[in-house]
Amino acid sequence: MKITIFNGSPKGRNSNTNVIAEAFLNGAASVGSEIQNVFLIDKKLHFCKGCFSCWFKTPGQCVLNDDMEDLLTLYKQSDVVCFATPIYMWNMTACMKNFLDRLIPVKSPHIEENNGNFDMTNASKMPDVVIISNAGFPGENNFHIMKEVMKAANPILEIYRNCGMALRMNNEHIQRKVKSYLVFVEQAGAQIASGLSVTDAVLSGLNAELFPTDEYVRIIGG
Ligand SMILES: Cc1cc2nc3c(=O)[nH]c(=O)nc-3n(C[C@H](O)[C@H](O)[C@H](O)COP(=O)(O)O)c2cc1C
Repeated sequence: MKITIFNGSPKGRNSNTNVIAEAFLNGAASVGSEIQNVFLIDKKLHFCKGCFSCWFKTPGQCVLNDDMEDLLTLYKQSDVVCFATPIYMWNMTACMKNFLDRLIPVKSPHIEENNGNFDMTNASKMPDVVIISNAGFPGENNFHIMKEVMKAANPILEIYRNCGMALRMNNEHIQRKVKSYLVFVEQAGAQIASGLSVTDAVLSGLNAELFPTDEYVRIIGG
């Protein structure tokens, strides 16, 4: 099983997103998975030009000459890919959105209808998708757009962590709570790597409150 995380935080390795991503990959590695953690911010990625050459002239092949060629190969070789992004303005980062746009060569121009919804078809068998996202605010509303957009990817697991600005804070009490949360993230990584699903117990650990709202607001000084 090959699991690849594509991290769309501009903070790359030092991101709150990466705290969750690394725990997930550690879990996957613990059951023998081959893992890769890609920081999109370190890659040379132009914007999609919308020329559709990758559909009609050179199927599967983008005209742009940058790091996307290698990332497309990695994407197609993975059994599970994870889109990991912080919430910026109620949505994924521009870095992640650009990467998703550049994935269009793995799609084909054939239109598929599913219960009145129209979509592109995949050009070949695609990896399963996991979503990891963290938001700086408490509550769930900041994930609404991400959840809606990611429905199209039919994810096998979505990890949405609010109160995300605490994840890398250097304080013993905070880190104790973060570590207890990350145990569930590691278990999720191990379970996805072994069986492509997680138990209800792990799911409820992932979705449990990290901090009461008033405590978190105090922590971040809001
Ligand atoms: C430009 C910008 C926009 C943001 N927009 C939101 C937002 O809409 N909702 C939210 O909850 N947090 C928002 N945040 C806070 C980030 O989600 C938060 O700092 C997160 O922990 C960053 O994760 P990272 O370290 O992985 O990049 C924003 C941060 C920035 C810099």
